[in-house]
Amino acid sequence: MKPRVLILYYSFTAQTRRVAEAMATSFERQGCDVAMRAIEFVDDRYRIELPFRPVGRQLARWLWPQLVGKTGRVRVCQETLAGDYDLVCLGSPTWWLNPAMPIVSFLKSPAAHQLLDGKRFAVFAVCRKAWWNNARQVRRLATKQGGRFVGGAAFCFAGGEIQSALSFVSYMNHDADLERYCGVKIHKFGVADEGIARAEAFAAKLAENL
Ligand SMILES: Cc1cc2nc3c(=O)[nH]c(=O)nc-3n(C[C@H](O)[C@H](O)[C@H](O)COP(=O)(O)O)c2cc1C
Repeated sequence: MKPRVLILYYSFTAQTRRVAEAMATSFERQGCDVAMRAIEFVDDRYRIELPFRPVGRQLARWLWPQLVGKTGRVRVCQETLAGDYDLVCLGSPTWWLNPAMPIVSFLKSPAAHQLLDGKRFAVFAVCRKAWWNNARQVRRLATKQGGRFVGGAAFCFAGGEIQSALSFVSYMNHDADLERYCGVKIHKFGVADEGIARAEAFAAKLAENL
């Protein structure tokens, strides 16, 4: 029987999805049966949409709920939760140094227990730069739901703090990947190609141990 892998993620600006897709391709290449599912964020109190404008005010709106660990309504279909997997990979974007609210909401719910209890899980954090606390919190919450941690990795944007911040602000403002912001040449928005290659290698390594 092929090893069964679930990649469960949330993605607002498609970077976690890009990493998930690269991992799925790699798992399939290693002979695994892969399901890729997104957590749906369906809470009217916490709508989030592009363009994310003005960026400063929009970011500020998320500061408090993120820092105090507020949760909202999320949806993962029952068929996904009931599946029998050899490995569950959890993909989490960073919002204000923490896992994005939809991830925390799922991991604090009974559905997470149904999915993770007694199962192996891996974590991949996706963000501009601040991955550490995100990955740590996802690991902690998933372990609390009965999962067994087997590996983690982080995939960040190209450039340093300032360069990646400029790409982020430009993209969120325009909902487009522009070459310049206020006349300054900026990096392409999102996880660098090197990160995508690393995501494939990360999945291949996880597959080896299945
Ligand atoms: C509300 C919000 C807060 C964020 N806070 C951080 C942060 O504290 N540190 C960081 O490195 N990136 C931060 N980011 C950037 C995201 O991690 C980055 O855009 C990433 O691509 C999100 O994943 P996604 O594209 O799958 O949605 C933030 C993004 C949003 C929308």
